[in-house]
Amino acid sequence: FHVDWDIVTAEKAGFDHFMLKEVYDQPKAYRDTMGARIDASGTKVLLPEVGMTREQIADIRNVHIIACGTAFHAGLVGKSVIETLVRIPVEADVASEYRYRSPIITPQTLVIVVSQSGETADTLAALREAKRNGARVLAITNVVGSSIAREADDVIVTWAGPEIAVASTKAYTSQLIAFFLLGLYLAQTLEKVEAGYVKEVLAAMQELPKQVEQVLAQADSIREVAEQIAKHHNLFFIGRGLDFATALEGSLKLKEISYIHSEAYAAGELKHGTLALIEDGIPVIALATQEVLFEKTVSNIKEVKARGAQVYGIHMEGNDELSKVVDETFAIPQTHQLLAPALSVIPLQLLSYYASLALGHDVDKPRNLAKSVTVE
Ligand code: AGP
Repeated sequence: FHVDWDIVTAEKAGFDHFMLKEVYDQPKAYRDTMGARIDASGTKVLLPEVGMTREQIADIRNVHIIACGTAFHAGLVGKSVIETLVRIPVEADVASEYRYRSPIITPQTLVIVVSQSGETADTLAALREAKRNGARVLAITNVVGSSIAREADDVIVTWAGPEIAVASTKAYTSQLIAFFLLGLYLAQTLEKVEAGYVKEVLAAMQELPKQVEQVLAQADSIREVAEQIAKHHNLFFIGRGLDFATALEGSLKLKEISYIHSEAYAAGELKHGTLALIEDGIPVIALATQEVLFEKTVSNIKEVKARGAQVYGIHMEGNDELSKVVDETFAIPQTHQLLAPALSVIPLQLLSYYASLALGHDVDKPRNLAKSVTVE
């Protein structure tokens, strides 16, 4: 009797790489992170792990979100979510910059640190700096007993399960879920939003796991695009608002594992310089999921098309306008505008995975990178 696998193969659960397994783990990670944090009637967020009283929440004057890499990109989405729902000013910084720019931290600042591992040196140092200045620190992390979890005042655990691949996927999207819950929780506590609105967003959140499965079912079409993209040395990701945050994450993921150079640009900013780099045949991934920004993004897409770019558009189902201006489109299922990043990043994760695969790179262990960065 011979068993033809080892423990690592078993942990990959039949997938070729940890990254792919972790991409497919996402529906479960979304469900587990929402878990018991939405009450049975679907009208309220329950976050007993946030130990602040209503008075302490009402006392918050500003929020600082600090993280590195992919976790920082989740923080950018968090900034939008909290500002939109709670109407409190939010700054988002990469941890390695935060401490050295003399940030204005007061006891009325809520500092949110985001870290999959809970061990990232710069993020941990920023947490300590915030505490020294009297701020309350809330951590969003995937590792329960980590240094960041232990030192923060409040901890929202993302229940994504162990993430082995260096490229973060399910930890990132679970961080988005945590931010949606936190934003709604703060807003509902301060009565900044109508009960009906909370109910509507929560209902849309509960649809997300099924919708992620629908996106994953289209992996083959993304693979074809990835194989085209793998032939290029440069490309762009563009978007506005939340789509820009997703563009940054898509670009980082691609660079990290396929080693293809890409830049993420706020679509409206292109014409202030970078448009000069657009030449015939250059691939541009354009995200256009945000209804209020749609027309503006389309006009930026026309600018790159006019200079010969090959444009792949990502939009929400039911809005087929994009297919008239781009070369190929990919539709994510309809969801609430604020939640779109939790769906639109999935095709970008698959895009980087299949591009890396096409180029024969080590998907799970890209060169020069470590899973947990414990040096500053
Ligand atoms: C993600 O794909 C990267 N490997 C990296 O940017 C990572 O998100 C960053 O190092 C932060 O790690 P953390 O979430 O464990 O703090």
